[in-house]
Amino acid sequence: MTLAQFFLRFGIVAVLLAGGLMVADGSLSVTMFILYLVMAGRVYEPFGSSFMLMAEMISSLVSIKRTKQMEAIKEQGGQPVCNNQGYDIEFQDVVFTYHADLEDTAVSGRHGERVLNGVSFVAKQGEITALIGPSGGGKSTVSRLAARFWDADSGRVLLGGVDVTTVEPETLFKNYSIVFQEVTLFDQSVMENIRLGRQNATDEEVLAAARAAQCEEFVSRLPEGYQSNIGENGCILSGGERQRISIARAILKDAPVVILDEATASMDAENETLVQQALSELLQGKTVLVIAHRMRTIANADKVVVLDHGQVVEMGTPTELLEENGLFQRLVAAQGGHL
Ligand SMILES: Nc1ncnc2c1ncn2[C@@H]1O[C@H](COP(=O)(O)OP(=O)(O)OP(=O)(O)O)[C@@H](O)[C@H]1O
Ligand SMILES: [Mg+2]
Repeated sequence: MTLAQFFLRFGIVAVLLAGGLMVADGSLSVTMFILYLVMAGRVYEPFGSSFMLMAEMISSLVSIKRTKQMEAIKEQGGQPVCNNQGYDIEFQDVVFTYHADLEDTAVSGRHGERVLNGVSFVAKQGEITALIGPSGGGKSTVSRLAARFWDADSGRVLLGGVDVTTVEPETLFKNYSIVFQEVTLFDQSVMENIRLGRQNATDEEVLAAARAAQCEEFVSRLPEGYQSNIGENGCILSGGERQRISIARAILKDAPVVILDEATASMDAENETLVQQALSELLQGKTVLVIAHRMRTIANADKVVVLDHGQVVEMGTPTELLEENGLFQRLVAAQGGHL
């Protein structure tokens, strides 16, 4: 009950009480008392409905504000073709700030504060580039900008020499297979969830991707195997199992640029090794961007880019960086001292 409704009810009760007392001491006749009660009801009725209307108005105002915010977001335009030469990804002095109108206003991120501050690096085709660094350093933000989820405030992101902001997002996205840090699954079967990677894939292709991502073992335990429904966002599965479905989806898409954001973080060491073995074959010749906290995940990277507070603080091969007395060396030391 709202406060307004409480006062309205309280008003009727007050009329009842006062009238009852007056009837008791004889200063009011029963007929008049009933008349008053009827009148009080009539007086309060419109108030009641106006309060209801006011509540509806307030909730509409919130929706109007949200709609206006969405209208204010600049639509990402671009050409329906991407004339890239190869698939190197290059960041050139990229500066990025999350604005309150971007994505989820419910997230309590650093809106208005610079999250990337002049980031430059190249992730070469045919190589594995690892992004590492402390939590909040900007790794996931870099991975999303690489696929043009948002546009940089300044600087450029290039795919095969083409500025991603010149290409229509849908056309551009065909080039990317991404396993996000927060896996998104749907309230459908395992089969349908994997097939989202490539809608026209045959059942055999979906099953091959699932096997490569080590899904077979847990799917065989589900009551209806690949046809089992996995619930809202895969709620009947463990974190590692959800990640494996997401990896199978990316394998099925088989795009030339692969981004793995903490893709194996929730898996046990055995499964991680098996998934990595399967991935290493599939990643041949592709541009691979791997984000990981676990050093063993990035041991075979060709290049490591260390991001801290939105800036590249170190860059090189894992062995080169191990010799530098820097953040990479400290991060490795904190995890036992070897890759
Ligand atoms: N959608 C968002 N809206 C506002 N701020 C955000 C949003 N996403 C991330 N941020 C902020 O940007 C900064 C960088 O976040 P990012 O997710 O890129 O870090 P990260 O290096 O991937 O961290 P982690 O290792 O914990 O995954 C953080 O301070 C975070 O609060
Ligand atoms: Mg992240």
